[in-house]
Amino acid sequence: MCGIVGYIGSNEKKNIILSGLKELEYRGYDSAGISVLSNNILSTFKTTGKLINLENKCKDFNSSGFGVAIGHTRWATHGKATEVNAHPHFGESSSVVHNGIIENFLEVKQLLESRGKIFLSQTDTEVIVHLFEENLKIYPNHLEAFKNTINSLIGSYAILLITKSAPDRIFYAKNGSPLLIGASKDEIYFASSSTPLIGLIDRVCYLEDGDIGVMDTKSFDNLKNIQPMGGEKISSQKDGYRYFMEKEIYEQHKVLKDTLRNRILDDDIILDLPDNFEDDISRIYICACGTSYNAGLSAKYLFEREAKIKTDVVIASEFRYADPIMEKDTLFIVISQSGETADTLEALKLANKNNLKTLAICNVDNSSIVREAKYSLLTRVGIEKGVASTKAFSSQVILLWMLGIYIAKKKSLISIEQVRTQVSNIKASIEATKVNACIHDRLKKISKRYLHGHGFFFIGRDIFYPLALEGALKLKEISYLHADGYPGGEMKHGPIALADSELFCVSLMPKHLLYDKIKNNIQELSARDATICIVAQEYNDIADDIVLIDKFNSYMEEFFAMMIVLQLLALEISIRLGNDVDMPRNLAKSVTVE
Ligand code: M6R
Repeated sequence: MCGIVGYIGSNEKKNIILSGLKELEYRGYDSAGISVLSNNILSTFKTTGKLINLENKCKDFNSSGFGVAIGHTRWATHGKATEVNAHPHFGESSSVVHNGIIENFLEVKQLLESRGKIFLSQTDTEVIVHLFEENLKIYPNHLEAFKNTINSLIGSYAILLITKSAPDRIFYAKNGSPLLIGASKDEIYFASSSTPLIGLIDRVCYLEDGDIGVMDTKSFDNLKNIQPMGGEKISSQKDGYRYFMEKEIYEQHKVLKDTLRNRILDDDIILDLPDNFEDDISRIYICACGTSYNAGLSAKYLFEREAKIKTDVVIASEFRYADPIMEKDTLFIVISQSGETADTLEALKLANKNNLKTLAICNVDNSSIVREAKYSLLTRVGIEKGVASTKAFSSQVILLWMLGIYIAKKKSLISIEQVRTQVSNIKASIEATKVNACIHDRLKKISKRYLHGHGFFFIGRDIFYPLALEGALKLKEISYLHADGYPGGEMKHGPIALADSELFCVSLMPKHLLYDKIKNNIQELSARDATICIVAQEYNDIADDIVLIDKFNSYMEEFFAMMIVLQLLALEISIRLGNDVDMPRNLAKSVTVE
């Protein structure tokens, strides 16, 4: 989603901002722009499409000496993805970038228009710069003018503003959208996530909601909660794979071992949680969006069957406004790959307000969700660049599975012997994510049969139902074909009306869980002439197509082996359709607006 980078210093500002924006590129955007203020000249460049267009547009521009600069990648919310709607937005002598949504922008705009201001764009953001310039006429102190501007806004925002009459500083505000400030020797950097700043700064401050201020090269030390920030820039490469998504599918069996690292000792599970963590927990509430929600739904089956703990799972955007009943004995778990998803973050804040024990399962340390949660466990699978989540999903399921067993053990709900069995099952399940080259070849081949039709149903039962949801989500995200996930037994309650030979049913048929039940459900679809693609361990004659996985001894190994099949199937269909696998249309990696 939208990305922000800002810089104060004497190095080539254009290059710093452009390379910062490049680090945020994988998150998804549809236009981009930069403003550089140096030697009393404020220059702004904006383009639609990829950053390369912006680079070309400003290739002859250089800014020597000291100055300030801001840049932005935009994922359209208000107004189409046009050049004029791209950020930065400018007034007579100031320029602004913004992530989030200004909810009262229409009122502010009308007020400013009544005072003669002319608006160029359809965005909510443009009001900020005009209001600031109006306020500057009333409050000669820049910070006061900026604060008054921010205080008139309702919504969520991370904002950077530069202005010609204060050429050595950047004004900033944060509420609901992430923003951080970093410092190295004589330079100050801003960004909406730490990725663009790794290797450039040695200290960082993650701003809190409500922070409004101004920064020059001398004022960094006045900030609260400054932390050291080390690390070298590790630029994630495709390593010979065609897409990041493909690489991320293939590396799951390796990186999932990092999810386990130091958490399994002598066939026991040790998690970095306080001793009495399990006290007062008699039920679990899981809240997340998208793939993370599907991982949460998978965990419900594991928590209830294997760990004997009552669990509810809810989509974060639904939870927030449903006046949910929050009982004190609840462990409230949020799951988020990015740690920045706005709905999940707000749901977490609500749970904290209600004094629940909150725990984040996340892949990004120091993200807003990790910082907001009372406890957190990191999935540790490295940066995920493909917009379609793959290794994030598998690591979330593995970590949640371990958490369930850990709590059950501490509450004496299961025996030490059962813990041992689960641990060996977890290890075997990670092995099951190793891609079998023959299976991948088979998927490359059969994918050509699934490029048309009027839609896909992915079906499964029990924990294979959330896996079916995840398979459908993967496919629709990157193929743009209609796909739905359904519990196998539910098809005859409506969806089967769609069955004909142009309806593709990807059916998950594990040998070790409800085999006969799902077989019946598939037969019902086959009898109505639906085209059936079965994923199973053994040959079956109901199938029009069959993808055989290796032989496994447990349903969770089958779960992870089938997950790989679904991820690869989506990938191969998307490639055949000529889509941008890693950056599919309309999607963003980190969804920071509600
Ligand atoms: O970063 P999060 O896990 O909180 O993101 C939640 C969803 O936006 C995300 O899982 C989305 O559904 C992915 N693109 C799925 O592939």
